[in-house]
Amino acid sequence: METVKTISELRAARLRLPQPVGLVPTMGYLHEGHLTLVRAARSECASVVVSIFVNPTQFGPAEDLNSYPRDLRRDLQLLEKEGVDLVWAPEAEEMYPPGFQTWVTVEEIARPLEGSMRPGHFRGVATVVAKLFNAVQPQRAYFGQKDAQQAAVIRQMTRDLNFNLEIIVCPIVREPDGLAMSSRNTYLNPQERQAATVLYRSLSAARQAYQSGEREADRLRQVMTEVIQNEPLARLQYVSCADADTLQEITGRISGRALLSMAVFVGKTRLIDNFLIGEENHAPGY
Ligand code: PAJ
Repeated sequence: METVKTISELRAARLRLPQPVGLVPTMGYLHEGHLTLVRAARSECASVVVSIFVNPTQFGPAEDLNSYPRDLRRDLQLLEKEGVDLVWAPEAEEMYPPGFQTWVTVEEIARPLEGSMRPGHFRGVATVVAKLFNAVQPQRAYFGQKDAQQAAVIRQMTRDLNFNLEIIVCPIVREPDGLAMSSRNTYLNPQERQAATVLYRSLSAARQAYQSGEREADRLRQVMTEVIQNEPLARLQYVSCADADTLQEITGRISGRALLSMAVFVGKTRLIDNFLIGEENHAPGY
């Protein structure tokens, strides 16, 4: 496994890789969720590139950029074991040199949900992912359904800017008790860690209601809200029952596929999670 830092080193190493090349973009502090994307890439591509970059432009001023967990040594050990060919771990100055002033802004699909709570977040994500795509030029790129709206924003950008690659979205990897794996779970103390299962419990309750025939979106939002409100250590930021393709909030009855999603503070830690419901044999990509 080769590890590089600069864009010129990356370009040189990339030229030597057999195609198709699969890219897994990450911010490091890797867990089984990331490694599942790496394994999908490993099984489908001749070469696997993983990027590790805590992208400053996708964090808001009051967010956790400085405290975001980092452990490059451990990450490299894990990736080596997965048979990754190339790791690219650039410095912020390399990605955003002085005078940087070009941004990728995806519009409609980036506005609701996370976009409304984290202004500028998806501009930072789309810009850095466009830069990763341009530098690595992969044939396939792998993302997690954990960040459902991020995957939708990247798909939209890929289509709109004619990036010549396929976006693959892999299912959410969870802890045995249902908590979606996340680098941010390390912020939770033991009590909060227990309380954090509330997202999964809340989504499960809504899915249960759906499976029992409930089709009113309002009612599902209410079911999710009630479960969160019953957890003293949790504070709800939003719950949503949205059209799975447009991410627009559903008013009235659910007909096609819906994305149930939420952001919840457990203590000071902001957690997100989602379930897709409807049309069991849903389209690939989700
Ligand atoms: P990061 O949070 O490190 O996540 C990297 C990738 O792993 C994302 O596609 C994310 O959806 C996926 N992932 C995280 N937890 C997962 C889980 N429990 N199950 C399945 N997939 C999971 O997302 C980012 O980094 C950044 O925004 C990035 C795309 C790298 C751009 O900076």
